[in-house]
Amino acid sequence: LQTDSQTSDWAGRRVVITAGPTREAIDPVRYLTNHSSGRMGYALAQAAARRGAEVVLISGPVSLPTPAGVRRVDVTSAEEMWAAARTEAAGADLFVGAAAVADYRVDSVAEQKQKKQGRDGQWQLTLVENPDIIQGVAAMDQRPARVVGFAAETRDVETYARDKLARKKLDWIVANDVSRSDIGFNSTDNEVMVFGRDNQRYDMGRQPKSVLADALLDLFARAD
Ligand code: CTP
Ligand code: CA
Repeated sequence: LQTDSQTSDWAGRRVVITAGPTREAIDPVRYLTNHSSGRMGYALAQAAARRGAEVVLISGPVSLPTPAGVRRVDVTSAEEMWAAARTEAAGADLFVGAAAVADYRVDSVAEQKQKKQGRDGQWQLTLVENPDIIQGVAAMDQRPARVVGFAAETRDVETYARDKLARKKLDWIVANDVSRSDIGFNSTDNEVMVFGRDNQRYDMGRQPKSVLADALLDLFARAD
């Protein structure tokens, strides 16, 4: 794929990206979350803005600066991320779900800090499933023209990624093997496979997330 990062090829287009983890409160001091630095989503937002797009970045808690020219919407929980996504994604040209959304939240958040004392060394929490944000976006009346997911897998990467692509009715899914410690999560590099709904497959070798972001945007810009 040729990178076309010096042009304004995304001018006039609206791009909505989710990034970072979500955080699900257990009580006022504790929460559940996922590994995610937010770097891949932020790199995509930065690249799209540089190429002229109007970019909305719906971000969970991360420690990254907001890229220039990007409108950032800060959220904490998956339910907040879904509320922001359904508002922002309507009629967008591209929606990218780069966030590591917590699949579950506790069924009822305790109002007071829960004490260890009297718990007998165990604490059982009941978790309930969170809304699937990207699946919801892909099913919207004003569905974005392109909906792209990410899949972090520890095994059978292609099988699981293609299953998500089909089940969530996505256009593309970007998959990486998070069992490898040299790429992904907190790394500045990533190495991914991209699968398309028409059975396409692209292998994108290890490269900085900023470079990969431009290559991915080249792919998502294609009309087909
Ligand atoms: N995703 C989402 N909302 C969720 C869970 C996931 O929008 N509640 C999105 C992620 O942002 C990503 C894609 O779905 O773009 C795949 O996420 P992943 O966690 O790999 O898929 P799940 O369907 O949650 O499957 P599992 O965690 O069981 O592998
Ligand atoms: Ca998940």
